[in-house]
Amino acid sequence: MAKRNPKRQSDYIILSIDTSCDETAAAITVGQRVLSNVIWSQIDVHRPWGGVVPDLARKEHQKHLGEVIQLAIARANANSKRFQLPWRINWDTIDAIAVTQGPGLAIALEVGIKKAKKLAQKYHRPLIAINHMEGHLLSSLARNSKSQIPNSKTEPSIKKMPTLGLLVSGGHTQLVLVKKIGDYQLLGETLDDAAGEAFDKVAKMLDLGYPGGPIIEELAHQGNPRRFQLPVPMARDPSLNFSFSGLKTACLYKLRAIPKKEKDRQFLADFAASFQATLTKAITIKLKKALEMHHPEQIFLGGGVINNLYLRQQIRSVARKYNIPVFTPYSRNLISDNAAMIGIAAFYKALRKEFVQNISSLDRNPNLNFSA
Ligand code: KG4
Ligand code: ZN
Repeated sequence: MAKRNPKRQSDYIILSIDTSCDETAAAITVGQRVLSNVIWSQIDVHRPWGGVVPDLARKEHQKHLGEVIQLAIARANANSKRFQLPWRINWDTIDAIAVTQGPGLAIALEVGIKKAKKLAQKYHRPLIAINHMEGHLLSSLARNSKSQIPNSKTEPSIKKMPTLGLLVSGGHTQLVLVKKIGDYQLLGETLDDAAGEAFDKVAKMLDLGYPGGPIIEELAHQGNPRRFQLPVPMARDPSLNFSFSGLKTACLYKLRAIPKKEKDRQFLADFAASFQATLTKAITIKLKKALEMHHPEQIFLGGGVINNLYLRQQIRSVARKYNIPVFTPYSRNLISDNAAMIGIAAFYKALRKEFVQNISSLDRNPNLNFSA
């Protein structure tokens, strides 16, 4: 197959790696195009413990990362053939390696970083260190191998600034102002638990299993969101911060006060719906505030909790009142933790020539964050 010559910037090929939490992930991106996005989920390993066990996560990453990278390259090649792209993906054509530096579990991050450094040194490729949350933030910009954003009438634009990012995951709940790609301001974040964590903990109280978010969403379909009155956290607080631990405690007290025999399936559905509606309200109140304060041109959503369709609908309904378009990643595999989003963030860093200067000294940063 033809080698890329002369090389266009938009043809920049990146192998990206994310081992920040409980997914072992590797991807191949060509510019903004996702050629492959392999995610080895560890959920079954952690489920018996009701949450992520860091040492188990580290061991699983060590066991599977090599294989996941091979698979990412193989699938990218299958895709490039299918879409008649003019490249083979191999160590002659991969231009750079990207890896999540943080935030995340220290001993899990370490596995990906060590592997990325080794590959960068072995194949003499530049290394790009990525903030996992910047990956979630830019995940709406991903395009498929045909360079399309499926099922989207309009397209996100890197020229429409400022853009507001709303990131809702198991570890984070953040509002981020994008002044331009690479220039971010943290407007607000959770002061305690993340929204996904609250979903998981309330699901645990209801004995629903792990991870709780998708189970609560499913149950809530048949539930009455007005049956239980729960406090909307930070509703009157003027900042753009969030807090979910009070809501979690309110759920605990409410559940303790109700006799076990009354906790039938309808009860569970009503409780799930009431909790989901209250948490969503807490998020949309702050979103509305952020829109009024910062007048963004568009909104980018990211993070696992964005899978929740009720939350998305409510976000869209707020944004519609302000006439602001909302964008989500085109596939579920780009919403939850994945490496393709790391590749997208890395592509823009490569355009800015922000490479790791001293590869051997790159270290994990479990608390990496946007600056306020
Ligand atoms: O972004 P993510 O995959 O990993 C982190 O970086 O944390 O997010 C995982 C979180 C979990 O807390 C999970 O319960 C939640 O996202 N989640 C959901 C849904 N799907 C996943 N929460 C609510 N509704 C969903 N449908
Ligand atoms: Zn994440």
